Formats: sequence, structure tokens, C-alpha cells
Amino acid sequence: MAAAAVKAQSGGVCVILLACVFILRQSLVQGAETYRRKLSVDINPNSTLDPPPGGDLLHVRAVGGNDTLHFLFCSQGAPTLLIVHTNTSSSTVKVNWPEFLAHNTSGSLTVEPQSSVLYSTAVVFSRLLEYDDVNNTAEPTSDFFPPYELQNFNWSRLSLNGSMALLCGADPTFRNGSLCLQLSVFDSEGRFESWPRLLHSANSSQVDVWLDGILPRSNNSRFLLELQSVGGAYPLSRVDVQQSIDDEFTPSIFKVSQWVSSMNGSSDVLGFVQWKPVAYRRPHPVLEDAMPCRHSDPQSQSGEATTASSSLIRAFYSKPEAMGLNVSFGLAGDPFYNKTMFLSWTMLVGVGSPPVDFFSPMIVTIMVVAMGTPMILLLVGGVCICLHKRKAASSATYEPIN
Ligand SMILES: *[C@@H]1O[C@H](CO)[C@@H](O)[C@H](O)[C@H]1NC(C)=O
Ligand SMILES: *[C@@H]1O[C@H](CO)[C@@H](O)[C@H](O)[C@H]1NC(C)=O
Ligand SMILES: *[C@@H]1O[C@H](CO)[C@@H](O)[C@H](O)[C@H]1NC(C)=O
Ligand SMILES: *[C@@H]1O[C@H](CO)[C@@H](O)[C@H](O)[C@H]1NC(C)=O
Ligand SMILES: *[C@@H]1O[C@H](CO)[C@@H](O)[C@H](O)[C@H]1NC(C)=O
Ligand SMILES: *[C@@H]1O[C@H](CO)[C@@H](O)[C@H](O)[C@H]1NC(C)=O
Ligand SMILES: *[C@@H]1O[C@H](CO)[C@@H](O)[C@H](O)[C@H]1NC(C)=O
Ligand SMILES: *[C@@H]1O[C@H](CO)[C@@H](O)[C@H](O)[C@H]1NC(C)=O
Ligand SMILES: *[C@@H]1O[C@H](CO)[C@@H](O)[C@H](O)[C@H]1NC(C)=O
Ligand SMILES: *[C@@H]1O[C@H](CO)[C@@H](O)[C@H](O)[C@H]1NC(C)=O
Ligand SMILES: *[C@@H]1O[C@H](CO)[C@@H](O)[C@H](O)[C@H]1NC(C)=O
Ligand SMILES: *[C@@H]1O[C@H](CO)[C@@H](O)[C@H](O)[C@H]1NC(C)=O
Repeated sequence: MAAAAVKAQSGGVCVILLACVFILRQSLVQGAETYRRKLSVDINPNSTLDPPPGGDLLHVRAVGGNDTLHFLFCSQGAPTLLIVHTNTSSSTVKVNWPEFLAHNTSGSLTVEPQSSVLYSTAVVFSRLLEYDDVNNTAEPTSDFFPPYELQNFNWSRLSLNGSMALLCGADPTFRNGSLCLQLSVFDSEGRFESWPRLLHSANSSQVDVWLDGILPRSNNSRFLLELQSVGGAYPLSRVDVQQSIDDEFTPSIFKVSQWVSSMNGSSDVLGFVQWKPVAYRRPHPVLEDAMPCRHSDPQSQSGEATTASSSLIRAFYSKPEAMGLNVSFGLAGDPFYNKTMFLSWTMLVGVGSPPVDFFSPMIVTIMVVAMGTPMILLLVGGVCICLHKRKAASSATYEPIN
């Protein structure tokens, strides 16, 4: 009887331990089996004017097994990131520079062969909004200052470091402050060292946006960033917010927001912008420098206005559809911008499904220990009891002989 119970118990333990080992192995395998792309970076490709007037065009070609992602980042007008996915590893980008610089024709930037294009998506960083939060409610409904149109900023030249590009710009009223965008394109899966440590893949790029030292127009100023997404048939249309129980990589943040494009509302995601709803008030933040952010519902925008603000959109798309949303930084009671004069926010832009964080190895270890230890104790306990009973039984049998 006791032996059977122990057997059943150890069977149960084995199943649970095996499950734990499986989860652990899954998380390790996920780390090891990464998809790689070969990156090549080119700035103002084939331009005869170097640098071209009005801003730079960065082209990162990311070649996979039998597909290519073209990342194009341009500061002519409002800063714009365009990603084009093709089904061959030999597709190229062609720019007709005189037409591109004339800003008035579509088709001056193409991806050849055009039949290889599977999907494209673009994000335009269109405006920076500022409001005077006199009552500290963080409800951006009134008291807006005139918006900063990023297409009118004085943008620096793109500064390159490997597959990272830095672009800073300013409005004359910023004094010596600036708004900067840093694009990073990746050849494989990984995470940045700095918060929010988003998980990226070879199919996505990261854009960090920060406001450094700009002069706020009131002491109670808060900011919003307006983003527009442009796509061919299927622009980014809805924002999904997902919950997580694991905040190891982004302390105190248990959500991830994904602005996705899908075909007729199906669950297959074609392209995405993903972010964690957090901004930081210092360049090297500690936990107190984290500040929640919120987003508005995506709304349909005039494609013409977006086209007018961004040269890259005009050059690549003929009749684009655009959607827009705002990301606002800070909740009621959070310090105002004037406290640290700094704000940074990070997002991922890519094609296919957004990366999904699996439980981190630390959480998996905790789970294995938490679930495994009682089982091992039970098993050891069961074995002890069994041995004890046997011993008792054997001494009971042998005693009469003595
Ligand atoms: C793409 O490459 C994978 C292996 O890298 C191969 O299995 C697959 O058949 C290829 N697809 C096409 C359409 O060539
Ligand atoms: C640059 O010129 C080369 C050779 O003419 C061509 O192969 C390439 O596609 C061009 N690139 C762009 C971006 O126009
Ligand atoms: C585009 O602009 C150029 C010069 O700015 C002009 O010569 C050309 O006619 C314009 N083309 C169109 C289609 O408006
Ligand atoms: C790529 O897609 C185009 C059109 O969607 C198709 O005609 C072509 O055969 C595809 N090429 C490959 C290699 O799958
Ligand atoms: C701020 O609060 C005052 C008094 O409660 C109110 O009159 C005013 O309208 C509020 N301002 C805003 C922008 O909400
Ligand atoms: C733009 O910036 C450059 C140098 O950063 C400066 O020389 C120029 O005057 C600025 N232009 C405007 C319109 O602010
Ligand atoms: C370039 O990037 C590397 C790695 O991200 C960094 O360590 C290095 O400081 C950067 N160099 C410059 C000049 O910013
Ligand atoms: C910013 O400009 C002010 C004067 O307008 C100057 O005193 C200060 O040193 C400047 N700061 C930096 C970091 O350049
Ligand atoms: C990236 O895209 C390629 C080609 O579409 C696909 O095979 C791969 O699984 C994707 N990787 C990730 C991490 O989504
Ligand atoms: C902002 O606060 C400072 C210091 O408290 C004060 O000197 C300044 O007048 C205030 N500015 C405005 C626009 O209220
Ligand atoms: C920021 O604004 C608040 C008023 O809202 C003021 O008390 C504080 O002194 C300002 N801080 C700085 C550094 O100007
Ligand atoms: C999506 O819907 C449109 C019309 O609403 C239809 O023309 C198109 O074929 C649909 N696409 C797919 C893949 O179902």
C-alpha cells in the first residue's frame, strides 16, 4: 500500500519536474535559435549632391535567407521611418535624386523589382504638443500651446554608428535644447542595456525619442508626441494592450502596447509599432525617474497632409492611407518637464508579429524552485516513511524468530 502511494507520488513529481525542465529548455532554446540578417548601411545612396540639401536619407538593407527588409529613415520634412519587406534576397532601392529633392512626385524612390514587395509600413514623427497642466490633472484637453511641427525643425545631419543613426533637431525657441531620434536596426534578436529593454528581433528596429533641455513654455508643461502611420492597403489600425506578470526587464511596468496592422481584422499581424507605456525623466534613469504614458485611439488622418509633411512618404507612396495617434507622457501628480528638463521614450517598429517576451530565465528558475522543492520534499518524505515502515515491518517479522 505504502509502496504504491510512494510510486504514485514519485510519478507525479517526475511529471512536474519534467514540465519544469521543459519550460526551462524552451526558454533557453528561444534564446539560442535566432534568425539572422546581414545588414548593410548606406547614407544618401547614389546622391551626386553630398550632402543633399534639406536632410539625409539612410538606407539599411537587411538580407535574410530568402527575403530582404529595407529600412529607410529620412529627415527631409518630418522624420520618417519606412520599412519595406520583399520576398527575395536581391531586391534593391532606387532613388531618382532630382525628383526626390523636388518633393513633388511619387515614385522617385522605389524598391526593385516591384513585384517582390510583400508589405510596407511607415511611421511619421509629425508633431510635438505641449500643454500647460495648471491643475496637475495630466488631462491634455485644453491649454495647448501652438504645436511644434517637426517638418519645420532644423535637423542635424544623420550621425552614424554601425547600424545606429542619430538625428537631432530643434525649434529656434528651444534655446540650446533638442529633440532627438535614434534609430537602431538589428541583425538578430536581443535587448538594449538601457530601460525599457524591449525585446527586438531581426525583423524590427528600435527608435528612441528624447527631449533634452528644451525650454518649456510654462512651468507646468507636459508633452505629447504625435505619430502617424502610413501603409499601402493595411495601415496600422488598432492598439492592443497586453498584460504580463514579469517586469524583470522593465521594472514596475506590466503592460506592452502594440499598434498593429492586420488584414481585414484577422489575427495575423503584418506590421507593428510596439512600446511599453513608460517614459524616463533622466538619461540614466533610476526607478523614480519612470513615468507612465498613455496613448489615444488611432484615428484616420488625411493622407494628403501626411504626404505633404514627409518627403519619403511622397516619394514612395502614391495614395497613402494614414492613421494617427498621440502618446502623452506623465499622469496627474508626476513631476513636470521643468523638473529634470529631460524625457525619453522608446518604441519598436517592424514587420510580422511583434516580439513576445517569454518568462525571463530568472522567473523560470523561481517557478522551477517554487514548484519543484515541495515535490522533492514530498518525495523524500515519502521514501523516508516507506523505509521506516519497511524497517518496522522487517523487525516485526524477525523478532518472533529470536
Ligand atoms: C526560404 O528559405 C528556407 C530556408 O532558409 C527554405 O526552407 C524555404 O523553402 C525558402 N522559401 C522559398 C520561397 O524559397
Ligand atoms: C546605386 O547605383 C548602383 C549602380 O548603378 C545600383 O546598383 C544601385 O541600385 C543604386 N542604388 C540606389 C539606391 O539608387
Ligand atoms: C516638380 O518641381 C519641379 C521644380 O521644383 C518642377 O520643375 C516640376 O515641373 C514639378 N513637377 C510636378 C509634376 O509638379
Ligand atoms: C514574390 O512575390 C511576387 C508577387 O507577390 C511573386 O510574383 C513572386 O513569384 C514571389 N517571388 C518569390 C521568390 O516567392
Ligand atoms: C483649474 O482649476 C480651476 C479651479 O478649480 C478651474 O477654474 C480651471 O478651469 C481649471 N483649469 C483647467 C485647465 O482645467
Ligand atoms: C539650423 O542649424 C544650423 C546649425 O546647427 C544654423 O547654422 C542655422 O542657422 C539653423 N537654421 C535655423 C533656421 O534655425
Ligand atoms: C557606438 O556604439 C557603441 C555600441 O553601441 C558605443 O559603445 C559607442 O560608444 C558608440 N560610439 C559613438 C561615437 O557614439
Ligand atoms: C545653453 O544656453 C545658455 C544661454 O542661452 C548657456 O548659458 C548654457 O551654457 C547653454 N548650455 C549648454 C549645455 O550649451
Ligand atoms: C523574421 O522574418 C523571417 C522572414 O519572414 C521569419 O522567417 C522569421 O521567423 C522572423 N523572425 C522573427 C523573430 O519574427
Ligand atoms: C517658473 O518658476 C520659476 C521659479 O519658481 C519662476 O521664477 C518663474 O517666474 C515661473 N515661470 C512661469 C512662466 O510661471
Ligand atoms: C517648475 O515649475 C514649478 C511650478 O510649477 C516651480 O515651482 C519650480 O520652481 C519650477 N522648477 C524650475 C527648475 O524652474
Ligand atoms: C478584405 O476586405 C476587402 C473588402 O472589405 C476585400 O476586397 C479583400 O479581398 C479582403 N481581403 C482578404 C485577404 O480577405
